[in-house]
Amino acid sequence: MYVPPNVVTNEDLTRVMDTSDAWIQERTGIQQRRYATRYEETTTTMGIAAATIAIERAGITAADIDFIIFATLSPDYYFPGCGVLLQRQMGMKEIGALDIRNQCSGFIYSLSVGDQFIKTGMYKNILVVGAETHSFALDFSTRGRNISVIFGDGAGAVVLQPTEKQGQGILSTHLHSDGNDAELLSMANPGFHAGKYDENKKPPATDQPYGGVFITEELLAKEDIYPYMDGQAVFKKAVVKFPEVINEALNANGLTASDINMLITHQANLRISHFIQQKMGLRDDQVHNNITKYGNTTAASVPIAFCEAWEMKKIKEGDLVCLAAFGSGFTWGSALLRF
Ligand code: ACO
Repeated sequence: MYVPPNVVTNEDLTRVMDTSDAWIQERTGIQQRRYATRYEETTTTMGIAAATIAIERAGITAADIDFIIFATLSPDYYFPGCGVLLQRQMGMKEIGALDIRNQCSGFIYSLSVGDQFIKTGMYKNILVVGAETHSFALDFSTRGRNISVIFGDGAGAVVLQPTEKQGQGILSTHLHSDGNDAELLSMANPGFHAGKYDENKKPPATDQPYGGVFITEELLAKEDIYPYMDGQAVFKKAVVKFPEVINEALNANGLTASDINMLITHQANLRISHFIQQKMGLRDDQVHNNITKYGNTTAASVPIAFCEAWEMKKIKEGDLVCLAAFGSGFTWGSALLRF
């Protein structure tokens, strides 16, 4: 894992918007988050920092990696994605680089894709990265406070390899989506939709024969360029889908919640994580949460929490680890693995 050194406390945020440490802690559990250093760090550079550690711990070099999967909602460029930027900067061979756009569940989706390539024998060393730079593009005025206080920057990475050990490794992955509420947690602009799904977002008629709908003067004037979240709708759906997809993974493997040594959920909100723990009947030593320190880092949150739990020796060889995420789309998923 890699998180930028710049620590931003709730108190710091009270200087730019009308909020309070008490409100943020009570509603989200967050005490502080990290923000990337402007002009120095990007989603790709943080992804590389995490990837470098993962590759070293796997006992290989960047030259051994034969496929890259990079999950993020905050890429350095609109296109191309971060995968190729990482490939270039790490001096890797001309291997495949896949960008995954599944927001909070991006890492679980990436793990699932990588798992299939490993199990078919196509690749031997797959680098899976989840990284985000939220701080460059949030609304830090009071208008955006319900979202901006939640998110933080950071990166996590793993190397996937085949194992000969029976019953070890990724046991199963489970992926889902429901696009009915796609806009409830979204950043629609700038985009190519031209108001297709919402009349209120139709750009004004333009004299230009082509173009002129992706970024309009009106969008900029209205500052209609920030993420949107219906927090209560997200909360309601998340607390149903998290337990559902965790149970799906357990049932698929003939296991129960008591078999879990460590549950790592996407760090959306501490209240959501506590709800899941309670609903699954898990003890405190069966879960690891770190949103208090890093905020919600979207695609990076599962690998950051996974790495931190392992570094704290909360996960050891042979443990049953369950990873689960829910987020924008909505998309959600789980992965059950024997570490
Ligand atoms: N500081 C102070 N006051 C705030 C802030 C803030 N940062 N944000 C909102 N408020 C105010 C609102 O303006 C509102 O004021 P009003 O009553 O005067 O109108 C009041 O607090 C309540 O606002 P709500 O939006 O109704 O607040 P809610 O109790 O729903 O809490 C929250 C918001 C924390 C987002 C909650 O809905 C929640 O936990 N949602 C889950 C969604 C989530 O965790 N998303 C994480 C990212 S998505 C993901 O990872 C899946």
